[in-house]
Amino acid sequence: MDTVRVNWQLKALLPVVFVLLAGLLLFTVATVSLRDPERHAVLVVAGAGAVVICGVSIGVLAYLIQRPMVELQEKVALISEGNLDVAVSFAERNDEIGDLGRNFNHMMQQLRESRKEIETMHRTQMSRAEHLATLGELATGLAHEIRNPLAGIAGVIEIIGRDLPETSPARAMVKDVRLEINQINRILTDLLETARPHPPQMMRSNLNTTVEHAVMLARQQVLSQPIKIELQQAPDLPEVEHDSDQIHQVLLNLLLNAVQAVDGAGTVRVEIGSRDDCASVIVSDTGHGIPEQQLSQIFRPFYTTRGNGTGLGLSLAHRIIEDHHGRINVTSIVGKGSKFEVLLPFEAATVPIEAS
Ligand SMILES: Nc1ncnc2c1ncn2[C@@H]1O[C@H](COP(=O)(O)OP(=O)(O)OP(=O)(O)O)[C@@H](O)[C@H]1O
Ligand SMILES: [Mg+2]
Repeated sequence: MDTVRVNWQLKALLPVVFVLLAGLLLFTVATVSLRDPERHAVLVVAGAGAVVICGVSIGVLAYLIQRPMVELQEKVALISEGNLDVAVSFAERNDEIGDLGRNFNHMMQQLRESRKEIETMHRTQMSRAEHLATLGELATGLAHEIRNPLAGIAGVIEIIGRDLPETSPARAMVKDVRLEINQINRILTDLLETARPHPPQMMRSNLNTTVEHAVMLARQQVLSQPIKIELQQAPDLPEVEHDSDQIHQVLLNLLLNAVQAVDGAGTVRVEIGSRDDCASVIVSDTGHGIPEQQLSQIFRPFYTTRGNGTGLGLSLAHRIIEDHHGRINVTSIVGKGSKFEVLLPFEAATVPIEAS
């Protein structure tokens, strides 16, 4: 609803005029006993006095309030055009208007500093992104070059293994070589996945099943170790829109990390549930934990503290979850264990994600 706009001077002046008119009226009544020429003179002087008081009031108000207001308006217009290098001149005054000016100038100073910080951060991120892009190109090129001869080597090893007599001690060695080749292949696949992601194939399906598959696979990997992998499913969980292959990969990465963090005996616990309109999967372990200063690093590509790790597992997991419009949180206590929580919206937003 539009309200009638009334000039502030008029608003300030109206009560003054009202009081002065009432005073004049009082004067007129009080001077009834005087003779006419004298009474007339008194009334003229009082009237003129009232007009002068009004004029002076307006002048003082205009000087004290309107000027700073106009200046403030001009500066705000400059700010809305993106210019933050502004300051008001009335900040020097030692009254409330001066306080306003000082606060305004202080606020502008803080805004300038924050903008500078954001610009520096942006520049650093851009140069990091460029650096990573170059590194990614280099790595994927290299991965392709290695993969082809590796496939050849794997084939030859297979044939040699088949031709060896059952009793030959070289059979164990061939088996080891095959395992190593599989490991190199896994690293190369992860690397190519990280560098050339493909958009998730979203399907509404049961998240319990996806998680269960990953848990089963991880359990097979720890058969010979005293590590227990517990799974708590959520049978009533509504279906979740997700790419089951990709989420399976995320969970497997989290589970393998958890298992690798446990020295000796320990427990890895997987809990499915829901929180904040999202399905949640928590993977917690009783491993060695992650020091506070490393927490911000672990999702960076190639960050690893393990001798034979590539540091791609979590960066891949992070990217996949982002593509699902979800989140991944981590909390950890050194010596006690870590807890990773994956949150996936039940209905992923329908924004198509470009493959790069
Ligand atoms: N559950 C965990 N407990 C303790 N540290 C962890 C855990 N998960 C991840 N980390 C730390 O984060 C680092 C990065 O993990 P990430 O999975 O990305 O790489 P990686 O496990 O070292 O290698 P890769 O997964 O490629 O074989 C790990 O090296 C480890 O230091
Ligand atoms: Mg890992």
